[in-house]
Amino acid sequence: MIGRLNHVAIAVPDLDAGIALYRDTLGAKVNAPQDEPDHGVTVVFIDLPNAKIELLHPLGDDSPIAEFLAKNPSGGIHHICYEVEDILAARDKLQATGARVLGGGGLKIGAHGKPVLFLHPKDFTGTLIELEQI
Ligand code: CO
Repeated sequence: MIGRLNHVAIAVPDLDAGIALYRDTLGAKVNAPQDEPDHGVTVVFIDLPNAKIELLHPLGDDSPIAEFLAKNPSGGIHHICYEVEDILAARDKLQATGARVLGGGGLKIGAHGKPVLFLHPKDFTGTLIELEQI
């Protein structure tokens, strides 16, 4: 069902420091920050040859990232995103196994303008998983 790894998302307490780390220290291609008010985050995509890294930083007052950073003050891996061809079919199949889809199973439009959903980390070895339809 799942295909390629699309991105690994890393929450960062200091966006400029995260950008400098990936651009200057690690020598990666870092794109301009994008504000995603619907998701309460500012995102920065970093293009690697085989996948992307997504730096996440809180935007607004009740960002879902703020709580994560309160527990992980120096930042950390927040989620990983796998590609699927048919997100509704994937959702139905996973829900039939008892897996919990966050937000009641509804789809959202992700940072790439494609439909996404998130799966409960307790059902997936402690990892928040995003599925993105490609
Ligand atoms: Co993501």
